[in-house]
Amino acid sequence: MKKSILTFVGIGLLSTSAFAMQPPAKANTCVGCHGADGNSVVPNFPKIAGQHAAYLEKALKDYRDGFRKDPTMGAFARGLSDQEIKDLALFYSQQTAK
Ligand code: HEC
Repeated sequence: MKKSILTFVGIGLLSTSAFAMQPPAKANTCVGCHGADGNSVVPNFPKIAGQHAAYLEKALKDYRDGFRKDPTMGAFARGLSDQEIKDLALFYSQQTAK
């Protein structure tokens, strides 16, 4: 009995973490600079893991719409829709900063 409860909890944890870890499709363009989970390894690329989703969303929209100027991020944010930005912001906000 105890064992089956543990198995059940284990499967629950596995499936929720698998869901939380699933990166949005557009994240494959960010990996090279910000890392797979937003923990950039190169110091001049900011870590975006674990920041507030609202902050990440605003930063991306500001790059896209030209309120925040950075040639690199401007180029990568340009093609993103509002929904893609929301998904990316949510994903990186759920990652643990290391
Ligand atoms: C070629 C490298 C590169 C790629 C690819 C890239 N970024 Fe960036 N990113 C940067 C740099 C450099 C900065 C800092 C720019 C600045 O000074 O404003 C930055 C800044 C950011 C910030 C603001 C962080 C903060 O603390 O204000 C966010 C959010 C972000 N990137 C998200 C993304 C997302 C999402 C993608 C993929 C769609 C992406 N980046 C792709 C290099 C990159």
